[in-house]
Amino acid sequence: MTITTCIFDAYGTLFDVTAAARQAAEDPAHEGLKDVWQKLASDWRLKQLEYTWLRTIAGHHTDFWQVTQDGLDWALEAGKLTEPALRDRLLKLYWELSAYPEVPTMLRTLKDQRLNTAILSNGSRDMLDGAVQSAGIASLLDDVLSVDDVGIFKPHDRVYDMVQSRFGGTRDQILFVSSNGWDAAGAAGYGFQTVWVNRGGAPLDRLYAAPNHILPDLTTLMDLI
Ligand code: LAC
Repeated sequence: MTITTCIFDAYGTLFDVTAAARQAAEDPAHEGLKDVWQKLASDWRLKQLEYTWLRTIAGHHTDFWQVTQDGLDWALEAGKLTEPALRDRLLKLYWELSAYPEVPTMLRTLKDQRLNTAILSNGSRDMLDGAVQSAGIASLLDDVLSVDDVGIFKPHDRVYDMVQSRFGGTRDQILFVSSNGWDAAGAAGYGFQTVWVNRGGAPLDRLYAAPNHILPDLTTLMDLI
């Protein structure tokens, strides 16, 4: 395939969304998290995403930072984890999520091949800037595109439209990479070439389109191009 531009989802694809709960659980001040951080991380993520979909359907958009806090509040209450200091710590850690270990090398390889590289994310601009800076990958990305500019969440076409507005080319020259099965399906339905990074070995989402490729992580992405 002739790919000119590689576009990455942010949360769960480049940045490890479970890192905040995992790191907080290592802190003796939050001992109660030790055995439940995985469930907390999973509830938090699922509610955060569910709120983006529901708000989009209902026409009540807000920014991703708000749904991130709302999802966390639901997950903390479900887990009976009500200390305010834990909430503050988890939210702070969300601004400095670590990138998956293979990410810097993978991006450098794409840049060496003169491909355009960018993030396209539901994340609000300041959250994304924080994560990109803390992961040290700013110089490996040509741009960071946030849905803040279109006021609607993925998988709405207006979000995917942002890529050609920024980089030009045809839809099939764009490789869209996401660890979210529904986002990879959305981008495939839109007409991008797509890779689903299935880190957790999940079943394929039964949606209106399917990704062209499935990888276990980002290590071999370059082999597809
Ligand atoms: C994003 C979420 C969906 O970064 O992971 O857009």
